[in-house]
Amino acid sequence: MAISYNESTKTFYLDGKGITYAFYINEFDYVEHLYYGKTIGHDDLRYIRGLWGRSVIAAVPGYDVDVDSGVQSYNHFGSELTFYGTGDYREPMVEIVNPAGDRLTQLLYDSYEILPEKPAIKGIPSMRDGETLVLHLKDKVSGFACDLYYTVYEDAGVIARRAVFKNESENVILLNRAYSFAMTLPHMGYDVISLYGCWAKERRVDRIPMHHGVVSIDSKRTSSSATLNPFMALAEKGATEEQGNVYGISLIYSSSFVLKAEGVCDGRTLVTGGINDFDFRWKLESGEELETPEVVMAYSSEGIGGMSRCFHDAYRNHLINPRYVRKHRPLVINNWEATYFDFTPEKLKSIAKAVQGTGIDTFVLDDGWFGKRINDHSGLGDWVVNTDKLNNGLKEIIDYVNGLGMKFGLWFEPEMVNEDSDLYREHPDWAIGVPDRPHCYSRYQFMLDLTRKEVRDYIVNAVNKVLQENHIEYVKWDYNRNVTESYSIGREPERQAEFAHRYALGLYDLCERIVEANPNVFFEGCASGGARFDPGILYYFPQIWTSDDTDAEERTHIQYGTSLVYPLSSMSCHVSVVPNHQTYRITPMATRADIAHLGATGYELDTSHFSDEDRAVVHKQVAEYHGMEDLILNGDLYRTENPMESNYFGFMVVSKDKTEAVLTAYRRMGGVNNEVKILKVAGLDAEKMYHVDELGLTIKGSTLMNVGIVPKFADGDFMTVKYRFREKNLAV
Ligand code: GLA
Repeated sequence: MAISYNESTKTFYLDGKGITYAFYINEFDYVEHLYYGKTIGHDDLRYIRGLWGRSVIAAVPGYDVDVDSGVQSYNHFGSELTFYGTGDYREPMVEIVNPAGDRLTQLLYDSYEILPEKPAIKGIPSMRDGETLVLHLKDKVSGFACDLYYTVYEDAGVIARRAVFKNESENVILLNRAYSFAMTLPHMGYDVISLYGCWAKERRVDRIPMHHGVVSIDSKRTSSSATLNPFMALAEKGATEEQGNVYGISLIYSSSFVLKAEGVCDGRTLVTGGINDFDFRWKLESGEELETPEVVMAYSSEGIGGMSRCFHDAYRNHLINPRYVRKHRPLVINNWEATYFDFTPEKLKSIAKAVQGTGIDTFVLDDGWFGKRINDHSGLGDWVVNTDKLNNGLKEIIDYVNGLGMKFGLWFEPEMVNEDSDLYREHPDWAIGVPDRPHCYSRYQFMLDLTRKEVRDYIVNAVNKVLQENHIEYVKWDYNRNVTESYSIGREPERQAEFAHRYALGLYDLCERIVEANPNVFFEGCASGGARFDPGILYYFPQIWTSDDTDAEERTHIQYGTSLVYPLSSMSCHVSVVPNHQTYRITPMATRADIAHLGATGYELDTSHFSDEDRAVVHKQVAEYHGMEDLILNGDLYRTENPMESNYFGFMVVSKDKTEAVLTAYRRMGGVNNEVKILKVAGLDAEKMYHVDELGLTIKGSTLMNVGIVPKFADGDFMTVKYRFREKNLAV
């Protein structure tokens, strides 16, 4: 049993792959955290309770105890759920307004259930499978209640957690804050790692020391955002890529979020978060519930790399749609950087024709095929073909592409509308905004109010119609601006601050209805590049466009950071033209391909000018990619060189059975008298013998991992090398 309960000590033990998590119900019916880390025995852990404090602090309500005796305050307990107003001054996980106007809560243990199968959360993406514990907590005075869910997995070192807040009273309760989880870590000796960025610079790694007070990572954009990803890790001081205790927290959510680590005066760290409570208030009528987004907590003693592998296993095994997660990915040629809005059927055909026979198997028609979309000022919302550009409709180009033996893919931006569109002229009130106030334009477009069912119905019908009337096998779902003027016309004033969460629920409804109606279509997410790269989106779309920045140098940083949480197969990476359209940098074609092949790869350049030689180069690259695709889809990632800290980047991907691996390494700057660089090799089986194709040698795993490889980079800047490892008896 992965989850067990000891009646005599009232302790719950949750055992996942390599981890134990424990808490107990203390003498005040408070759910008190005890332990989270490496697998341990089911001993009575109450001896580790922190008896802290002689400070003047509020005792548990109703207990007139001597505060000098310490422990009898909510403020002192390791916590699974912090609440406000009854003596706990740490970050509350929940704050409500009761009918009388007071904001008190006391959510205490009532009962528990262990479910052999995890129930799906209706309307919100979440992890599938896993034994699940439900703790029922109640506030006996107000009738406010909360269920805490915990799920563990035999095949991944993670725990999935969430809270459901319930109004079991006769009255209305207002939620000012409704986070998904709280947890206490035993000390403050951590660094907080987060992923920050902006357009074309997504998911750079930040690492700062934990301090007294709150370290907060958030988004207020009604999307998860490129600014800060919904992820935080607490790495023990000195923890490196390969070793040390690291706790990762990843929120399955695509709207405004917050994650907090609070350094408390007692020397411990409280971690909490979920839906951002900035600009949030939720009205819970009698009998209503609020489901919070699920958080996935990964623990590893094998450093940041170990944490990443826990997330990768968890997301591939239990989050990403099993229909696609391990399948060959469409290897695309996308026309965007080749043509932008300016294309003709002939041009599109020549781009597709040029790559016939190279192994590229899908042609994707990007923005500009619909409405009056001649540039980015018009057309969004009108999902009917632009016959000025495609005079024979989509059919001509689809038939042509299919005739080449390739699949056809299409771009949509379903959540948006241009002012210059038939949709906006007919339904101006469907655009998010406050009546009588001017809209903020962003890329000349507005956002549709997905909190309204009639708006979602229109989008679902319009998109599904195009997908069902045409032979389309791939969709790129874009999202190119953030919400401003958060307001929903027609919704009661006291529910307006529900907007950001309701937008997420609307988005998930849209995704669900479009993905499920089109089981033969492969979906890729996109948001001006990677501005909504989060586990919520990955639940619906197995891969996401990682960044509009396809420059190989920039990509080493972006893909490095993204891989902290997200598996390689979730990162869409294209080989594009030089000078690069974002950075104007020139890098070798082989380097662009080697870096782009560390994900779900594709090409995005004007192939219509290709010579036979160009075609042969792409053909060879695609064949190489096919040779390593299984590793990209299923392998374990070892980050061997960090481009933020050195002149090098290195990713090593190893098959689960450790019989095969590929190491791709990159040197940013060349020079004269280059240093002797020894590349790290990691993740192999120390006892196995490996044939290394490029060295023409068979070497023991332990030797490779301890000695490394001295790479032969070609002269010049931005060069890559690649090494393939095959267990000796598999060597070709
Ligand atoms: C966004 C995407 C690009 C492209 C354009 C089209 O910027 O990230 O890949 O699809 O939109 O307008």
